[in-house]
Amino acid sequence: MIAVIGLGFVGLTTGLGLAHRLGCTIYAYDADERKREMYTHKQIPFHEPHLQEHLERYEGSRFIVCHTMAEAIAQAETIFFCVGTPCSSSGETDLSDLQNAVQTCLDAMEQLPERKSYPVLVIKSTVPAATTTDRIQPLLQARGYITGKNIGLANNPEFLREGSAWSDFVQPDRVIIGEIDPIGAQRLSELYAAFDVPVHRVAAHTAEFVKYASNALLATLISFANELSMIADRIGQIDIPQVFRLLHEDRRWQGHPAKMTDYVFPGCGFGGYCLPKDTQSLYSHAGNYGHESMLLKAVLQVNEDIKNHIVERITASAQPDEMVGILGLSFKPDSDDVRGAVSKDIIGLLLDRGFHRILAYDPLAMDNFRGTYGLPIEYAGSVEEVIERSQVSTIVTSWKEFKEKQSLYAGKTIIDGRHVLS
Ligand SMILES: NC(=O)c1ccc[n+]([C@@H]2O[C@H](COP(=O)([O-])OP(=O)(O)OC[C@H]3O[C@@H](n4cnc5c(N)ncnc54)[C@H](O)[C@@H]3O)[C@@H](O)[C@H]2O)c1
Repeated sequence: MIAVIGLGFVGLTTGLGLAHRLGCTIYAYDADERKREMYTHKQIPFHEPHLQEHLERYEGSRFIVCHTMAEAIAQAETIFFCVGTPCSSSGETDLSDLQNAVQTCLDAMEQLPERKSYPVLVIKSTVPAATTTDRIQPLLQARGYITGKNIGLANNPEFLREGSAWSDFVQPDRVIIGEIDPIGAQRLSELYAAFDVPVHRVAAHTAEFVKYASNALLATLISFANELSMIADRIGQIDIPQVFRLLHEDRRWQGHPAKMTDYVFPGCGFGGYCLPKDTQSLYSHAGNYGHESMLLKAVLQVNEDIKNHIVERITASAQPDEMVGILGLSFKPDSDDVRGAVSKDIIGLLLDRGFHRILAYDPLAMDNFRGTYGLPIEYAGSVEEVIERSQVSTIVTSWKEFKEKQSLYAGKTIIDGRHVLS
């Protein structure tokens, strides 16, 4: 049996959705008495399609509104926490409702006639990475519980959207389980098996971070569109909705997974002939019209920061007189174009720091690179040679060959700048 604590948009949807998909009894509790009263009278204090009909269908049978935490958790083996995690005045996440809910739950568990054999606490509220392990797990430990021994703890971020909460919950794209103990994660996996969607068991910090990655990306995209609308207004005679509708016709948005996902993936920066110069140009052009684009400025700055970050990682693994390997010189795989290539900047930063033994290899672009930049580096005849002779090797371009030859890297220091290795 399952308990759901906190019955706002997420908790009510979770409770009714689990009742619907699993056919089991859900014990639901909210600290707000008014909300509990409303739910028991089959009323919902907010508008969300489909919840009313499912509350009417399940309230009192599969969905039991409880008036105390003790009542809610008495029968439950798995307890979902869906309380709010608002922003505090300092901008940090206010975890007090979540911590209070967990403490109240632990108080109630202590008052049970006998200790539950292995309750699993699931944090569904959105919490910053490391919260479940660093802020919730200690509450359990302080009561003598040991995760993995007599209690389970997991994070399970929720991706539903208000307005389509019901279908998003009952037919999610994927389920993410942030694992802390294997028994807890297994119980959740079995519970979600009924949903017939991909269920990913990942580290708890990863699960927590995915949720923020998702929302921050959406926020960035919206601000990007708005930033461009402000630039367009300054220049004038630009039909900005039309610009975006035409942008949406780019075939990289289509397909599954859409090719655009290649661009929403970490690496060591964008390069090539177009992205750096055109982004810089738009930033400068907007400035000429009196609009300083903070977003484009940040986009360009992050592209420098990531290269410096990669160089920090390289220099932490080698001394200046040791050989440093660079795998990939072209700005992207399947191309011999080296204009604006990230490899050139990374090599430049290494030379600036006194690293004078650099050995590079690229399946196609070595002649172009040599001819274009004339940098004081050596060129290797193969990936094998780079790996063999270098103290540390860095994958800068995601050529297929570098992924295929990953058996060569065993026991070697490799910095996977493009995250191509499994
Ligand atoms: N709203 C969304 O679209 C959405 C989507 C995904 C994730 N989330 C996340 O899910 C969480 C819940 O969001 P929401 O929109 O449902 O919030 P909400 O404010 O609508 O609901 C939270 C509920 O928790 C109850 N509560 C607070 N403290 C409690 C306690 N100690 N014990 C029991 N109940 C308590 C409140 O009374 C309230 O009814 C947040 O972390 C939010 O960021 C929200």
